[in-house]
Amino acid sequence: MSAAAAAPVWAILPAAGRGRRMGGELPKQYLQLAGRSVLEHSLRAVLAHPQVQGAMVATAADDSLWPGWEAIEGKPVLHCVGGAERADSVAAALMALATHLQGAEFWALVHDAARPCLRLQDLDRLLCACLAAGEGGLLGAPVRDTLKRIEPAALTKGEPARALGTQPREALWRAFTPQLFPASLLAPALAACAGSVATDEAGAMERAGHQPLLVEGREDNLKITTPADLALAEFLLARGSAG
Ligand code: CTP
Ligand code: MG
Repeated sequence: MSAAAAAPVWAILPAAGRGRRMGGELPKQYLQLAGRSVLEHSLRAVLAHPQVQGAMVATAADDSLWPGWEAIEGKPVLHCVGGAERADSVAAALMALATHLQGAEFWALVHDAARPCLRLQDLDRLLCACLAAGEGGLLGAPVRDTLKRIEPAALTKGEPARALGTQPREALWRAFTPQLFPASLLAPALAACAGSVATDEAGAMERAGHQPLLVEGREDNLKITTPADLALAEFLLARGSAG
């Protein structure tokens, strides 16, 4: 998976989701947390790294809330329309960036708009590990809970599930973002997954035969999914800015 380590790094923020599991009127990327939108926190977190040149944000076609930023921290913030699934939004942003950069190779640093608590140290460790190896990778963490296997077909809403067995967890990690890959490899890998559910970039790269580097990151790099996550993120952001 090698690529010119010297190629510039550009951030891609998929922000075209509806936040169905969160519920409510506003898509979750526009909810306010500690004085800024979730999206602005996530965007600033990636732009804070000196090696990140700028960002492309993919929003929904009917998004009326996009604030129209053109630069943050002196770095360009570009904008494009996303797609029906997260992978479609990332693919659209890759294409828009390729056009902006006139076909030059770049590293795509994909970070969920819904992960506002990313720490600079984690981002730095990911960038250092991948650029030194000339290979793509992602932040993640080993699974810590005991894992139970169930029969999904037997699930009844509101009823308890049944544990059919315990899954060994030694070989399992959770995948976070950011995920960093050479754009010239990621775009075809995503295209090859079209129609199937590729839930992250690393999954598409694995299917294309690559073995992304897993760099251990902090578990508080949470993805805001449900209302309970919001309060936790608010606490983490307040603590982070205090210390
Ligand atoms: N995303 C996107 N385009 C889509 C779907 C999701 O850009 N078509 C983005 C979301 O905005 C979010 C990230 O991908 O920043 C992670 O997705 P997820 O947490 O699933 O967000 P939503 O799809 O908005 O939430 P839900 O699945 O609960 O509807
Ligand atoms: Mg979703």
